[in-house]
Amino acid sequence: MPDAYGRTINYLRLSITDRCNLRCRYCMPETGVVQKNCADILRYEEFLRIVTAATELGIRKIRVTGGEPLVRKGVIGFLAQLATLPDIDEVALTTNGMLLAGQAQALKDSGVGCLNVSLDSLNGKTYAEITRGGDLERVLAGLDEAQACGLKIKLNMVVMRGVNDHELLPFAALSLDKPWAIRFIEYMPAIREPDWRRNLVSGAEILAELGRKYPIEALSGGRYCGPAKPYRIAGALGTLGMITPMSEHFCSSCNRIRVTSTGAAKSCIFNDDSVDLKPWLNNPLKLRHTLVQVISAKPAQHHFGTGLANREFTMSNIGG
Ligand code: GTP
Ligand code: 5AD
Ligand code: SF4
Repeated sequence: MPDAYGRTINYLRLSITDRCNLRCRYCMPETGVVQKNCADILRYEEFLRIVTAATELGIRKIRVTGGEPLVRKGVIGFLAQLATLPDIDEVALTTNGMLLAGQAQALKDSGVGCLNVSLDSLNGKTYAEITRGGDLERVLAGLDEAQACGLKIKLNMVVMRGVNDHELLPFAALSLDKPWAIRFIEYMPAIREPDWRRNLVSGAEILAELGRKYPIEALSGGRYCGPAKPYRIAGALGTLGMITPMSEHFCSSCNRIRVTSTGAAKSCIFNDDSVDLKPWLNNPLKLRHTLVQVISAKPAQHHFGTGLANREFTMSNIGG
């Protein structure tokens, strides 16, 4: 359905758990985050009711996120259920890839089309530091497996100055012979370190650096084209993408809403307010009406980084 600004909302991001097996420095403070009470986390069957109501409003794509979605038991069966819903055209998953090896084929068989894998360094030590304990080799093994079984792959690299910005070229080079979308994401100050701007490398700067080495051509966006502006190194098998929430937001073409693992519906990644869907899980009509309210309340754009939205939010609750 259209929102108040004429944007078509056809995409739901569903965070099925706030738990994660990593502690990425741009997502969680070192001390971790307070986890939701298990009893408050929705059952899969409850998520399915929400998704069904959402499809009645025109939602056609579901991206399952976390925390880390693969840590939740039964996730493959849930993905398969989503994929068989008659009005859903696409089921996708965003994962840190740590648990991918050994279950890529099951994911493919469940009907998942696209896998977005967070990977911020190709150096084992840097990767472990950024993720506070991640094992690069496991992720790379998972990626190989996912590619071998034909899953469409997008890599997400959150670029941070002085941390991993020296790896832009090796990441871009992955697209030369892999059919992957390598996406460079501007750092968003979710955990609100006072000096967060120090970390920010703008999409323009990233593109300029890549352009010094490679001939880069701009591409036009595809179906459900997300926040990434697509590019390609001339002749490469894969593509590049720039995700620029800070320097050049993409709010005017936003097509999505979010539901957290506890059933809170959010109209925008940066909005403090959310609407609790829990009271309406047994009332399909009210559930649909509440989702209509959420879509209608979508703001024209976010005010993140401008001082207008000053509250810290937890990326692992929202799923990015
Ligand atoms: P697809 O378009 O379905 O491939 O998904 P995506 O690229 O939006 O999803 P993914 O989970 O891979 O997220 C990539 C990056 O985009 C993450 O850093 C997200 O936090 C960010 N992102 C996704 N949606 C939004 C949004 O609505 N607003 C902002 N500012 N950032 C978003
Ligand atoms: N800034 C930018 N991207 C982020 N993500 C998580 N936290 C941030 C942040 N502060 C990304 C993850 C993952 C996606 C869901 O969101 O890397 O790929
Ligand atoms: Fe976990 Fe993703 Fe947050 Fe990293 S960014 S700690 S993988 S939820």
